[in-house]
Formats: sequence, C-alpha cells, structure tokens
Amino acid sequence: MRVLVVGGGAREHALVWKLANSATVETVYAVPGNPGIEQIAEILPVDVFDFFALNDAAMERRVDLVVIGPEKPLCAGIADFMGHTGIPVFGPSQACAQIEGSKAFAKQLMAAEGIPTARYAAFTSAPEARAYIHAEWSEGRPVVVKASGEALGKGAVLPESVEQATDAADGMLVRNEFGEAGRTVVVEERLTGRELSLMAVCNGRDYRLLPPARDYKKVGDDDTGPNTGGMGAVSPVDVPNLDELGETFVRPVLERFLRDGTPYVGALYPGLMLTDSGPKCLEYNCRFGDPETQCVLPRLGGDLAQMLLRAARGEELPRPVVSAEACVSVVIASKGYPGHFDKLVPLPDLEADGVNAFFAGVSELNGELVSSGGRVVTVSAMGSTIAEAREKAYAYAKRFDNGPWHYRRDIGA
Ligand code: AMP
Ligand code: GLY
Repeated sequence: MRVLVVGGGAREHALVWKLANSATVETVYAVPGNPGIEQIAEILPVDVFDFFALNDAAMERRVDLVVIGPEKPLCAGIADFMGHTGIPVFGPSQACAQIEGSKAFAKQLMAAEGIPTARYAAFTSAPEARAYIHAEWSEGRPVVVKASGEALGKGAVLPESVEQATDAADGMLVRNEFGEAGRTVVVEERLTGRELSLMAVCNGRDYRLLPPARDYKKVGDDDTGPNTGGMGAVSPVDVPNLDELGETFVRPVLERFLRDGTPYVGALYPGLMLTDSGPKCLEYNCRFGDPETQCVLPRLGGDLAQMLLRAARGEELPRPVVSAEACVSVVIASKGYPGHFDKLVPLPDLEADGVNAFFAGVSELNGELVSSGGRVVTVSAMGSTIAEAREKAYAYAKRFDNGPWHYRRDIGA
C-alpha cells in the first residue's frame, strides 16, 4: 500500500522509517518531511495546511492511508477534511483533537467521566485567577498554571512561589504572552510522582496500548531547569497494572466520544503521574509522543501500517508484538533550547551505525546539513538491557560534545 505521513519531526522520521519497513508498504510519501525522511520517503511539494492541495496530492498518488503526526493540523481539522475523500486517515477529528487543543475541555471531560486528575479551576478573568491562586497557596496547596490552548508543550508553568504563580496567570490573561492559547487559564493542584507516557492506537470503539515509555521533560540532568518538549525517553518502563491504566485513562475517553457521535480514531496519549494516591492524568495528547515514539517504535514487531490502517477503518486491532529488548532515546538539542538558540549551525556527521538517528530540526543549506530547530536529532539505541542501550546511544551522542549542542547525560540512568 501507499502511505502518506504528515509532519516533519523526529517522531515522523521514526513513523516513516517503521512504515517503510512494513511488509505491505510499497511507497511512503511525506509532507513536509525533513532531510532524514527524504532519504526513505518521497516528499510531496504541498503545504501541510493547504488541505485542498494535500487532498489532491494524496488522491493523485492513490494513497491508501494517511498518518498525521503533529497536533497542530489535527486541531485545525485535517482528519475531517481528508476523511471526506474516503482515504482512511489515522488521526482524530477536530472534535476529538480538542482533548489536546483545549485543556479546559480535557479537564471537563475528565471530571464528567470520573477520570482521576488534579483538582482544577479555569479562568478567563485575571483578578479571579489571582484570588484563587492566593487562596490555594495560603492553604498550603501549590498550583500549576497552564494556558488552556495549544502552546507547543510550553504552556505549563510550575511556579516556585505564589508571586510567580499569579505572574504566570497575568502573563497569559493580561500580557497576552501565549496569544489565543492563553485566553483561558487552567489552575491546577500540583502533583508529585513519576511520570508515564501511555500511548494507545484507537479505532473509535477499542484500543491497543503500545509499550509504555518514560519521557524526560526537563532540559537539565536530574530534572533541573525549564520544561521542554522532551529530552529523551526509555522503554520498557516497569508498570505492574498496564491493562488497568488503559481501562482507566483510555476506555472512558473512547466511550465518551462514541456517545457524542464523533468516534476517536488515531493515537491517544495520556500523560500520567503516578502519585501516592494513585495514577492521575496530567494531560491528553491527540497524537503519539515525541520522543516516546522514537523510543517505542524500534521495539515494535508486526506490521505497523496494517495496524494503523485497521484503526483508521474502524476494524479490529491486532495485538502489538513487542521486542524484549530495551530502547533508550537521547535528544540532541541546540544549546539554549527551550530558550533562545542559534540556527543554521553546521552539524557533525549524522551517519548512524547500529542505532537510529531520527532527524528533527535539520535542514539542508548549500548541500550541507545545518540545525534549524531546538530539538535537532533523537538517537535511539536498542540493547538487551537499558544499560547496554544507553551505552550505544551515548556513543553516538559524543560527536555533539564540541559545539553549540546540549543533551542530557542521565537518560535511562
Ligand atoms: P502539560 O503541558 O499539561 O503536559 O504539562 C507539562 C509538564 O508539566 C508535565 O509533563 C509535568 O511534568 C508538569 N505538570 C503538568 N501538570 C502538573 C501538575 N498538576 N502537577 C505537577 N506537574 C505538572
Ligand atoms: N513528549 C511529550 C509530548 O510529546 O508531548
């Protein structure tokens, strides 16, 4: 079959790589792709957000399946639009994508369906938000302040003081620092515990869980510094009650959307925190995780294209085949990320031997590969143990030791 993958990050590079290796896949197309994806897929010269042109391009190539990577086009309704052509699309409708696009919507859904999550209140008025934050903090309950809309993973502020908390709310509601995304602010109880990324493949009525992974969100070693999109991941993660987590955090979402007449088709990724009072959902994503995908797909056997096609068609899903080997993924970033960083910096040789180097912020300039984003490459290595995988990943990462690059040294440690 012919598959079109939408997106151009390391997650999509991993998807394209895995799909290209599926026995039933003849050609993979990608939009917009990147120089890594270009080596294994054919790039279609259309704009991701020009849905008409994208549709035409997919029809011309007789594409059998469209796989959407990032949340932005999903929140803009790409799956609804492409679905009209009759081409199966793996990715949720705009109605379903709200579960990521609006934190206020997600919190309401969790409350209504009895899904465990942090206590919260939503505000559009700054004085009301401030009053609530002061009241919570004075009772010894620190809060997290979040822009409700889509903010590329940077919309959650974990303040150290009540002043920082009210200032974060003012930044969103008064100073407009997050634009449209910050028009509504969600103020949440601050939870503690280890995080877990649960990723499900959903066909509208049912789901299958991919092996769970743990993401490293903070920029610095030992979880220091600001939050990022993710600096690394490991899989497997020891979870005693994986099936129960699926039934608690995925099943009720599918049932809700089915009742609402908009079945959830695509990836659903609840970000969980394993607290002393049980697992709680921090957020829902309407897509696969980045870098979790780069870490989980190398461990997956079977035919991914068939699984995603069956999901897109609403057919029964095969049980994923998972390798016993471990995978460690390390993200190489531009120094300064998630703040300011230089672009167009020449990259060291990215050629990988025995590991996967998935490209993200990589561009070609005059025949040379240069950086073009915060997260540049995810290196994923497999091993019989996490320690062995770790060693292989870091042997590759070493080439970034000189130059304006940064990576965490403690992924999987
Ligand atoms: P979010 O944008 O909701 O995914 O949050 C990004 C990150 O902020 C999460 O992965 C957590 O590390 C942290 N976080 C979010 N909500 C909370 C919370 N209620 N308590 C503690 N940490 C949180
Ligand atoms: N790794 C976090 C995310 O994909 O949102």
